[in-house]
Amino acid sequence: MLPMYILGIETSCDETAAAVVADDRRILSNVVLSQLDEHRPYGGVVPEIAARAHLDHLDGIIGQAMDEAGIGFDALDGIAATGGPGLIGGVMVGVMTAKAIAAVHSLPFLAINHLEGHALSARLTDAPDFPYLLLLVSGGHCQLLAVEGVGDYVRLGGTIDDAIGEAFDKTAKLLGLGYPGGPVLETAAVSGDPNRFALPRPLAHRPGCDFSFSGLKTAVRHAAAKLPGKTLSPGDAIDLAASFQATVGDILVDRCRNALESYVQAYPDAAPLLVAAGGVAANQHLRNCLSELCENRQARLIIPPPELCTDNAAMIAWAGIEHLHNGTSDGLDFAPRPRWPLDESRGTTA
Ligand code: KG4
Ligand code: ZN
Repeated sequence: MLPMYILGIETSCDETAAAVVADDRRILSNVVLSQLDEHRPYGGVVPEIAARAHLDHLDGIIGQAMDEAGIGFDALDGIAATGGPGLIGGVMVGVMTAKAIAAVHSLPFLAINHLEGHALSARLTDAPDFPYLLLLVSGGHCQLLAVEGVGDYVRLGGTIDDAIGEAFDKTAKLLGLGYPGGPVLETAAVSGDPNRFALPRPLAHRPGCDFSFSGLKTAVRHAAAKLPGKTLSPGDAIDLAASFQATVGDILVDRCRNALESYVQAYPDAAPLLVAAGGVAANQHLRNCLSELCENRQARLIIPPPELCTDNAAMIAWAGIEHLHNGTSDGLDFAPRPRWPLDESRGTTA
């Protein structure tokens, strides 16, 4: 049987991305244009600037993805675009573009939940069966879920305040490390002392799978304020970065340990498998922490390569393939969704 090819489009935050993926798991192209320069002067993503930049660049990025894949639109079997959640202006640009291509070429259109793109990315790289335990760690989310199937998610816990990526971004800003926060903090932490500052681990050793990061961020600010001098020295900043990152690692391990226990009880017949996904899962220290935990617990661990953890369109194309395999697609009347919880079918309304 001939492989199925899907064009994926991702525009929900500050990456303009397009990719062509085959259902035999080949990534024919995966183009990502980051809008770092546009947002750097503001120290964070400005929604209006992001939407305009997506509008300016998306057609060119799609053209590049199709050229690199070496196929024409007539060879495609569907067009998948992030339909939410995210910055609504950007999502609208991606959805409208995808609908137009789908209409012109008479192809199925698939509106993909961005979080589902992250959630299923491990199936693109490593083809695990369902169920698996998912740690979803990104700029706007921090959740633990049991993934029972495509579109079938059971939430075990989530953050009660800041998202984990947000904690990285705000802490990097506070330490004067620059933008984008996660990657610059990780780079700074490499040469810092992770044991110099004792920072709190909110909710540690408590039952459950919820997270909290706002107290940690505040503790970094207080630790910085207590240091002599009006400005942080570079040495202090990298030690604080390393201490913060080490603490986040401890928090993830503590919460994932509980989640693995609940997961094993709920799915006694499934071999324990933890999948991590989302931009923060690109962090090497956190990958190492999860790897050690899974080794101790005799659980398998899958974390896609860093370029498939941070936002990309290959994961959107793959989620589109999973939906097409299940025989589902979306109408051209689909309305972009700023909010779209992953476990919605289970009755969550938040
Ligand atoms: O999944 P993603 O690319 O976009 C969202 O869906 O939010 O995640 C972006 C988040 C940002 O907060 C960014 O700082 C963080 O992921 N991030 C990292 C690293 N790379 C990206 N955090 C820690 N270490 C990294 N290497
Ligand atoms: Zn994302």
